[in-house]
Parts: sequence; C-alpha cells; structure tokens
Amino acid sequence: MRYRFYREHKYLTALLFELERRIAKTDFRVNEQLSVIQAQLQTFAELLQSHAEHEEQAIHSLLQHLETPVQKQIEAQHQHHAALFAKLHQQLDAMIAASTQHKCALGYDFYLLYRQFLIEQLQHFQQEETQLMPVLQQHYSDEELKKVDRAVYQQMTSNELLEMLQVLLPYMDANDKTFFLNDIQEAEPEKFIALERALA
Ligand SMILES: [Fe+2]
Ligand SMILES: [Fe+2]
Repeated sequence: MRYRFYREHKYLTALLFELERRIAKTDFRVNEQLSVIQAQLQTFAELLQSHAEHEEQAIHSLLQHLETPVQKQIEAQHQHHAALFAKLHQQLDAMIAASTQHKCALGYDFYLLYRQFLIEQLQHFQQEETQLMPVLQQHYSDEELKKVDRAVYQQMTSNELLEMLQVLLPYMDANDKTFFLNDIQEAEPEKFIALERALA
C-alpha cells in the first residue's frame, strides 16, 4: 500500500456532520442557540483554514512544476470555502438581529447554505484523495512523501503530537492508527517514547 496523505479528512468529515446535526435541530428563534452555532462555526472555519494552508504549503508545493489542473481547482475551492464561511457568518448575524417572526425563514436558508457547504466540502475531500493523491504518488516515492509529514512531526512537541492523536484516533480505523503510530515512531523516536507512555 502506497504512502498517502489526507487521513485527517475522516475527522473533518465527522465534524461537518456533527455541525449539520446541530444546525438541523436548532431553534432559530433562540439567540443563545445561534450563538453556540456561531462559536462552533468559527472554530471549524479556523480548523479548515489551517488544514487548507498546510495542504497548499506542504503538499501543493510538490506539484508546482507539474501545473496539474486539479491543483488549481482545489486551491480555488479553498478560496471559495472561505467565502462560504463568511456568508454563513453574515447570515447568522442577520438572524440574531432579526425579529422573531423572521428568524425561522432565515434559519432554513442558513441550514440550506450550510448543507451546500457540507456537500462541496465532501466533494473537495474526495477530489483531493482520488485525484490529487494519485498524481503525488505517481511523481514521488513513499520516502519522498513521508518527508512532508516528518517536517510537521519535527516542529511539534511530544505533547502536541499526543493532543493530535487524541483528537484524530477516535475517528480512525486500525490501519490509520497503525500508520500514525509507526510514522511518528520512525520520524521522532524520542518524542514517541513519551507519547506512547501517555497513550498507554
Ligand atoms: Fe483542501
Ligand atoms: Fe483536505
């Protein structure tokens, strides 16, 4: 099996659906509930922004010289997702300020826009994994691809690595778990000792 990126998409997919479930059940007449959505949306926007930045800086830089059309499409989608987040925030602000009689109609529009965002985000993950990853594997060896993740592990403390695993692993299958543990152990053997002790 070839070395591959994007395993964290499982975690991000779960968050997308968790937020969809929450929005679907929100009583849009209650501003306190809207504030909870607002905070979760902001946290999620920041997480996806840093995920996209990592992809463009660490992964897409490997493809610059190839001028792959799919890379351009994916980067345009990152811009589009940021614009969609801004629109979702605007709609939430308008809903909070609106009179009670208008909140439910605005809430349904907001739900539909969030679901559109979810659909586009899932298509985006799919495109990265099924179209961009094969190009990377075609042009780089496993050892070369590993260097991308190694640079990330190197910058992280053992505590940060532990926090990352505690967040990601509950959403992973056995193969992903083995991958992360082996990869970190191989890249950062000293940090891994502390991490393994904490995970035990
Ligand atoms: Fe992306
Ligand atoms: Fe991604």
